[in-house]
Amino acid sequence: MKITMVKKRLADGEPCEKCQQAEHLLRERGLWDTIDYVVWAEEGDPESPGMLLAAEHKVKIAPFFLIHIKKGETLLFRSALRFAKEVEKLKANQPNKELLDTAIDVDALSTEFAEASPQQVVKWILGRFGETCAIAFSGAEDVVLIDMAARFGLDFSVFCLDTGRLHPETYQFIDKVRKHYDIEIRLMSPDAQALEAFVLEKGLFSFYEDGHKECCGIRKVAPLRRALSSYRAWITGQRRDQSPTRAEVEKLQWDPAFEGVDGPLLKCNPLAQWTSAQVWQYIQQYEVPYNPLHEKGFISIGCEPCTRTVRPNEHERAGRWWWEESTKRECGLHVAEDE
Ligand code: ADX
Ligand code: SF4
Repeated sequence: MKITMVKKRLADGEPCEKCQQAEHLLRERGLWDTIDYVVWAEEGDPESPGMLLAAEHKVKIAPFFLIHIKKGETLLFRSALRFAKEVEKLKANQPNKELLDTAIDVDALSTEFAEASPQQVVKWILGRFGETCAIAFSGAEDVVLIDMAARFGLDFSVFCLDTGRLHPETYQFIDKVRKHYDIEIRLMSPDAQALEAFVLEKGLFSFYEDGHKECCGIRKVAPLRRALSSYRAWITGQRRDQSPTRAEVEKLQWDPAFEGVDGPLLKCNPLAQWTSAQVWQYIQQYEVPYNPLHEKGFISIGCEPCTRTVRPNEHERAGRWWWEESTKRECGLHVAEDE
């Protein structure tokens, strides 16, 4: 979020009185520091930056205020009081900047979160990190987390690892979620050079012969590392009952494998204690969008060549890399569990 105040400077070089009053009001309410840019509209100079902004937003008089929420979404205020009220409202939903720099005692928080609901965990982490916390989105669990985040009205980021091998239905689902929640989804592509060299040497289906690690490394793990390097925390939809490799998943931990923008990266798994049935109950209750492949017998969905439907008596991850041993069915996104 970026805030601009446009002030008018009179021909004699003095700011206009109304602009001064507006500044005074903001200072009194402790909001002056929230202004990122003060832009001057020079009286008699239609080319001055403030005059240009006024023309762009069809405003005749300064002061006025612009709150740039996100790409394509800017709020305009002509009244300093209305602007102040809006900022106070928005600030209540922003991460607490002072808290951001205080130490995080993961052990103490894990104890505190032992019986906490996913919503309580999501609210805590987004309240603390806002858009510097990203939800890793690919499946049903992740949309539940997006839904919870959206309901709180807190800032958050979302990314998806676009391996280039997802089902067409999955691509449509990703876009449906983008539109449904009106959010930006950062689609992370594999490094083109590394991918071209790999496919040139081994073709498109080498994972059936020598395992999925190499392909997942290029198509998922490297893009994940790149995505995470912009955040301070990330949220995944892992559940303990998904796989023997996830039985110990914590609700909150320092990521043992990846680094964030400042180094240490928090990894948060709010659904660790939930079952698949609880996830689907939430989806139905709140009419959360889901991948249409679930209606065709798919449960855990990854890349198209490495995912198949499961039979009623099979475990939900039996359809992932089914030609490999069940203890090796992790692609490296959640390395610690793999080890
Ligand atoms: S995987 O390791 O086997 O591929 P799984 O599909 O169970 O993982 O998903 C577990 C969590 O990892 C998801 O809830 C999501 O947070 C994250 N994840 C998995 N695949 C992707 C992806 N393609 N893009 C973003 N996040 C993903
Ligand atoms: Fe490659 Fe399969 Fe891994 Fe997708 S799941 S990145 S296609 S090995």
